[in-house]
Amino acid sequence: KDTEKKRNFCIIAHIDHGKSTLADRFLERTNMVEEREMKDQFLDSMDLEREKGITIKAQTITLPYRGHNLNLIDTPGHVDFTYEVSRSLAACEGALLVVDAVQGVEAQTLANVYLARENDLKIIPVINKMDLPQADAQSVKEQLIELEIEPDDAILASAKEGRGIDEILDAIIEEIPAPQGGIDNPTQALVFDSAYDSYRGVIPHLRVFEGDISAGDEIKLMASGKNYEVEEVGIFTPRMKETDYLKPGDVGYLIANIKNIRNCRVGETITEAQNSAESPLPGYREIKPMVFSGLYPSDNDDYSLLEQALEKLQLNDAALRYESESSSALGYGFRCGFLGLLHMEVVQERLEREYDIDLITTAPSVIYKVVKTDGETAKIENPSHFPPKNEIEWVEEPYVRAELGVPEEHIGAVMELCENNRGEFEEMNFLDRQRVILNYEIPMSEIITDFFDRLKSCSQGYATLDYEQIGYRESDLVKLDILVNKEQVDALSLVVPRDVAEKRGRAILKKLKDEIPRQLFEIPLQASIGSNIVAREDIPAHKKDVTEGLYGGDFTRKRKQLEKQKEGKKRMKKVGSVNIPQKAFMAVLEKD
Ligand code: GTP
Repeated sequence: KDTEKKRNFCIIAHIDHGKSTLADRFLERTNMVEEREMKDQFLDSMDLEREKGITIKAQTITLPYRGHNLNLIDTPGHVDFTYEVSRSLAACEGALLVVDAVQGVEAQTLANVYLARENDLKIIPVINKMDLPQADAQSVKEQLIELEIEPDDAILASAKEGRGIDEILDAIIEEIPAPQGGIDNPTQALVFDSAYDSYRGVIPHLRVFEGDISAGDEIKLMASGKNYEVEEVGIFTPRMKETDYLKPGDVGYLIANIKNIRNCRVGETITEAQNSAESPLPGYREIKPMVFSGLYPSDNDDYSLLEQALEKLQLNDAALRYESESSSALGYGFRCGFLGLLHMEVVQERLEREYDIDLITTAPSVIYKVVKTDGETAKIENPSHFPPKNEIEWVEEPYVRAELGVPEEHIGAVMELCENNRGEFEEMNFLDRQRVILNYEIPMSEIITDFFDRLKSCSQGYATLDYEQIGYRESDLVKLDILVNKEQVDALSLVVPRDVAEKRGRAILKKLKDEIPRQLFEIPLQASIGSNIVAREDIPAHKKDVTEGLYGGDFTRKRKQLEKQKEGKKRMKKVGSVNIPQKAFMAVLEKD
């Protein structure tokens, strides 16, 4: 059978354990090096990924080896993209579990091992970096036993020196099952990723389970219900290379003039328009944004530019949401929804870099569910819309189950951090003698502030964090408003637990006092709950106007000063008579 000569696999590894280096060795070993050089050039354009040192967009490649086609499906490596990872795993029959021989198994890896299990993948353990003098294969093997993985199956490798590469490729052929599926069945193909090309539209990356697809076919996307005519199909070498067919077990791409990513999301099932499959492949989920923030142009004239930029970004980012909103402080802008904090940062940076728009962003927030006295339930994405106390019956907020990987000596500090952030302890398991996995249930709103930074600093950078949503719970929350120069600034409002509201108010004002530059007059800062002022700070006035001496001065000096002022204006917003810099809008994340 045709599928006998195909294998589909992915690599599960913690950041820096050697996934990319190993993939490079595979390319070399299968004589795809020339192609790889092209891929490197291609990757150079995605400097955001480079800088952040993480894979946002997965790369996929077909490796010819011993008469087989081995499809390596790469997975994105960040918690914001767990759903994408799960779809990539669903496209495989097996996974290489790559573990650094010095670092051992990490918490994040664990989460992916569980995902692999859920998808019934055959796991091949690889202990990498065996060339290092501190390599400790025995300890890693003990960790594998904890994970119920046969330690004797582990392949000892060094991606750096090229050791163990053939053994791994052989194991992929021998141990990972060949794909099932019949070419005569109605077509079912899973979309596990996609790219966007401004000429050819959305290019879904797919794994065929049943039937076949070729140019000229009329296909139907089962979740969106849209039909398209296929213009081209092909595989990744890693460059896109046109082929005649994609058959059961194949991994590749198709081009069908799909203009909108919304019609072809990750997790879609592609079938034939005429002879449709009875049901889609399992596991499709509408991805919902979890974190919201307001994006406003520093310069009001850039509003339509920002709208166009968001529209374009949305074409290849199915998770990004935006709708227009207005703020009395910031003017016209957009409330945007993101998968998580990293996703939010990536979008903001792309807007500033690729579209050259100066942005003011408000602090991230979650969606609160407010059950009101009139019986209605309101979903509040923008803290300034939180209703007053007398209209509220009760409030619910989203919780996550956080899984923290912590070295033994930092357990105390990490537990304290969790408890200070309203975390409820669930359980603790030893990963090995030196590391534990702590499970806490924590409000999502606590995680999206400075939790991650604090986790890193209280564990000398060693703790890891993974989390999943576990639904809504009732909490006693109030809206805290901030007044600058006696004027309420809606973009600075936030929702906080009632019992820490005053303390948070004081911390925020201290921070604002540092961030807002002194002006010619004294500026009072106040925090209020309803009509009660709970904290106050004052920014003293400038002693002297620095520009005064310049009037009547020589022309170049004056122009220089003007230019400097223009620079200084960037990422600054005039609210009433006070200039508020971008950083101040993040001050509301300050906790103590
Ligand atoms: P991300 O792309 O960030 O997920 O990392 P990765 O898992 O792809 O790791 P990568 O291949 O970039 O390797 C991380 C570092 O480890 C690099 O500096 C590599 O040179 C090094 N490295 C990878 N494999 C080996 C190995 O077998 N031995 C040694 N000594 N170093 C290795």
